[in-house]
Amino acid sequence: MQSCTSVSNLAATGKQIGTADDMQPTAPKRIPLDDAAIEIWLARLDLDTDQVRQCEVHLSQDELLRANRFHFERDRRRFIAARATLRILLGGCLAIKPDAIALGYTRNGKPFIADHAASVHFNVSHAHERALYGISKSSALGVDIEYLNRDIDYSGLAERFFTNREYAALQRIPESGRKRAFFSCWTRKEAVIKATGDGLSLPLDQFEVTVEPDAEPRILIFAAATQRIPDWTLYAADVGNDYIATVAAYRGK
Ligand SMILES: CC(C)(COP(=O)(O)OP(=O)(O)OC[C@H]1O[C@@H](n2cnc3c(N)ncnc32)[C@H](O)[C@@H]1OP(=O)(O)O)[C@@H](O)C(=O)NCCC(=O)NCCS
Repeated sequence: MQSCTSVSNLAATGKQIGTADDMQPTAPKRIPLDDAAIEIWLARLDLDTDQVRQCEVHLSQDELLRANRFHFERDRRRFIAARATLRILLGGCLAIKPDAIALGYTRNGKPFIADHAASVHFNVSHAHERALYGISKSSALGVDIEYLNRDIDYSGLAERFFTNREYAALQRIPESGRKRAFFSCWTRKEAVIKATGDGLSLPLDQFEVTVEPDAEPRILIFAAATQRIPDWTLYAADVGNDYIATVAAYRGK
């Protein structure tokens, strides 16, 4: 597709060119992807007070109310930064002001552009101090980013949520690489359930993906007869050393 985002719009926020590790605050960075029909953007959420104030002007009243319901200031800041960046990116795509975009939500909570639902697909994920955005005019999208420097019981989560074969594949990976492999598999699965819009109402053991981080990200099995694996493409997005991310694109009916 033609580039969706107006450069002049992004210039206002300081568009960056560089690696995912050296990006600056308030500067969404385009992440290269092996598909010209999908734009992937990465944003930092660790903004200072003035930057957060500048972001607030782009939000709707509902979003400002939601922001003010967060218990921790850190969560409020991250939400405002992530939502303002989403609106700036979509505004560039649709050539309308960020605060003029009307967002709707599906039954399972997936946001969409109320007036342009059929013409522009997007999805958002945030983890720690980063937000990841996917925008496409041709594919339904799901994106998932995870922060790697977390102490979680990944083996227990894998046993509970992964299929038996995914869990077995994870156990075969040497201990030193197992946590990264867990998050790799997790982002692949989350990206899929976010592309369908089901979220966790689609149990994660209803389909199987590749597990090894260096393996091509792919869906191997889908239990639902309505799902055709060729309709799906998964991409690994380079989001720096501390994060891992997957983009899922669905081109079926
Ligand atoms: C929404 C869901 C699909 C993903 O949530 P998550 O991984 O916690 O959060 P992410 O940052 O990746 O995604 C949240 C964003 O997805 C979007 N979203 C919400 N519901 C969605 C749905 N049904 N489908 C697609 N996207 C959805 C929203 O834009 C939301 O951001 P916002 O609230 O700021 O608008 C959730 O149902 C889920 O899977 N939660 C699991 C969380 C978990 O157990 N994590 C363990 C980590 S190892």
